[in-house]
Amino acid sequence: MAGMETTDVVILGAGAAGLMAAIEAGRRGRRVIVLDHARAPGEKIRISGGGRCNFTNRALTRQNAMQRLLSANPRFALSALSRYTPDDFIARIDAAGIAWHEKHLGQLFCDGKATQVVDLLVRDLRAAGAELRLQVSVEGVSRTADGFSVATSAGPIAAQSVIVATGGKSIPKMGATGIGYQIARDFGLGLIETRPALVPLTFAEQDLARSAPLSGIALEARVGHGKIGFDEALLFTHRGLSGPAILQISSYWREGDAIEVDLMPGRDIAADLAEQRASTGKQALHNALARHMPDKLAQYIVADTGLTGRLADQPNTALAKIAERVHRWQVRPVGSEGYRTAEVTLGGVDTTDLDAKTLQARSVSGLYFIGEVVDVTGWLGGYNFQWAWASGWAAGQVA
Ligand code: FDA
Repeated sequence: MAGMETTDVVILGAGAAGLMAAIEAGRRGRRVIVLDHARAPGEKIRISGGGRCNFTNRALTRQNAMQRLLSANPRFALSALSRYTPDDFIARIDAAGIAWHEKHLGQLFCDGKATQVVDLLVRDLRAAGAELRLQVSVEGVSRTADGFSVATSAGPIAAQSVIVATGGKSIPKMGATGIGYQIARDFGLGLIETRPALVPLTFAEQDLARSAPLSGIALEARVGHGKIGFDEALLFTHRGLSGPAILQISSYWREGDAIEVDLMPGRDIAADLAEQRASTGKQALHNALARHMPDKLAQYIVADTGLTGRLADQPNTALAKIAERVHRWQVRPVGSEGYRTAEVTLGGVDTTDLDAKTLQARSVSGLYFIGEVVDVTGWLGGYNFQWAWASGWAAGQVA
């Protein structure tokens, strides 16, 4: 079209992945325009990790990557992840003088505010000569004779390459739109069904009535589903269950499934209660249990088992019943809190339609998909940002 603005690369979305790709493509001398409808770039980076950004995970290895990044094709992410590693991102953070610490399980957080990471990326983007345009909505992408035309609220832009970095569906309030999936569909790429992940799970009405008094109680637990289990904090909420252990398991849980919760991992509550029975058996059963956990939780568990009376009156079979409920609690959530609070979106652009090394669509030369819009979803703990950095870096080398 005569007079249409033209550039080398248009990047859709100024989140973690889009900013990284823009820096890398700009450093190669490409003319890059990054579009985002938000007022500020990297809004999810800003609010991530409780405002301190869990920017990577140094426990990530080639061996565990296929487990810690979920995808219909778990091998897909390995190429990008092995070429741009957690150490590579740490080196950038260090070079910028951003102080950080390891919390646990390899999770790295800024000592100060997450906005330092956004500032670092925007500074590098500008230094690389890329242009950031905010408050511009992307409406669609179409093929032209020599590249693409990107339709935006500020008019069309022609480009040789388009990198789709529009993220998932999580937290629509923050600008998630799902446009990336639409673009994939328009170009005939496959989609793996999406669902909210790293999200609190909810109880049925009748269960909530009983569990309501537990709201606010947090404890270290082991939460399992099938062969996978997480030893992390669990939190009772007024809707059901949350906390890192639950967010992690939510990526595996499906409607109708039960999850198994050990409320005292590594302990043997039947043995502890048998010992107490011999010394202080006069106390009520729930008081005996309350020596090991919050009082309200002990009452809830004892009520659940239907047992009453003093500890001294409980035969070993009763203690085994308590132990079953404490160590192998079968919980059947009815749902999740959905995209409203989910940290990420499972599923997305089918990786079989993308080249693992470049993130380019196999059937559409010049079109790339990076970050959360792709069917690669990490565990809680910095894995999602590492995927965003690595996939953005990989596309930025070639687009
Ligand atoms: P991202 O969502 O960051 O960016 C997409 C961009 O596209 C947005 O800026 C959006 O405005 C823009 N966009 C969408 N549609 C558009 C349209 N039609 N037109 C124009 N622009 C459009 N991960 C982690 O590793 N460590 C952590 O500590 C956390 N913490 C965390 C907390 C919370 C509350 C959430 C919600 C998520 C996390 N995450 C996380 C996950 C992490 O934030 C997420 O995986 C990455 O931000 C994904 O990066 P992307 O660049 O792919 O998408």
